[in-house]
Amino acid sequence: MARVAVVTGGTRGIGEAISVALRDQGVTVAANYAGNDEKAREFSDRTGIRAFKWDVSDFDACVGGIQQIESELGPVDVLVNNAGITRDGTMKRMTRQAWDEVIDVNLGGCFNMAKAVFEGMQARKFGRIVNIGSINGQAGQYGQVNYAAAKSGIHGFTKALAQEGARSGVTVNAIAPGYIDTEMVAAVPEDVLAKIVARIPVGRLGKAEEIARGVVFLCGEEAGFITGSTLSINGGQHMY
Ligand code: CAA
Repeated sequence: MARVAVVTGGTRGIGEAISVALRDQGVTVAANYAGNDEKAREFSDRTGIRAFKWDVSDFDACVGGIQQIESELGPVDVLVNNAGITRDGTMKRMTRQAWDEVIDVNLGGCFNMAKAVFEGMQARKFGRIVNIGSINGQAGQYGQVNYAAAKSGIHGFTKALAQEGARSGVTVNAIAPGYIDTEMVAAVPEDVLAKIVARIPVGRLGKAEEIARGVVFLCGEEAGFITGSTLSINGGQHMY
């Protein structure tokens, strides 16, 4: 039977490319989204991938969403925690709300979703969890204490959960994208973005499909010895 994958934030941007790439591998994909119904409908019509609406920062909604997907599509074998938001601003301007929203969605969402699928994966002795971190969680970024903290947290979360899943065939890895050509990056002021791109050795923004390729690799049946790792896909912008 085909594997079942859930991709959070799976109808737009990097998530859309991940949903499509997993589908192209024969995986049955459920794409979660939080807000944009019109875009989700258009995505499902175009790709044939079903979209499921809930907010990943809401614990009960995550549990309910997974229950619905498992009853309609089967047990979840693959979880891609991709949903993420930005509320950029220097410390001076950043509100407590901007901090909470980014932590709750980007990091809290990873916990909520993993909690909903992890025990089932362990019981079935197979699972693939891929968390989308960020170069800015590795290196920091001016104006992003909230986002950098959440993404850095994702990298720690990945290494801890990898240790818990290892004995039961559940791998947990992270991808740290650099600056990818999506709506999120397009929202960065043009002059600021130009300076960032000038510092990318490859000389351009990345493509969402270049992140999706890494996800497919980490989710493969053959990838069982790769766990707790972070794959940086950033055009050489940050190396360590
Ligand atoms: N290092 C040092 N100083 C910096 C700086 C930097 N990287 N960036 C800006 N500054 C300085 C500016 O030179 C300026 O100084 P002066 O007043 O002396 O000229 C001061 O900080 C204020 O800069 P801004 O005019 O940019 O301030 P702002 O309040 O209008 O905007 C900001 C601040 C919202 C943080 C804006 O700079 C910004 O959007 N930066 C980009 C943040 C970013 O990279 N976000 C990534 C979003 S995409 C993403 O997150 C995906 C991913 O995973 C990669």
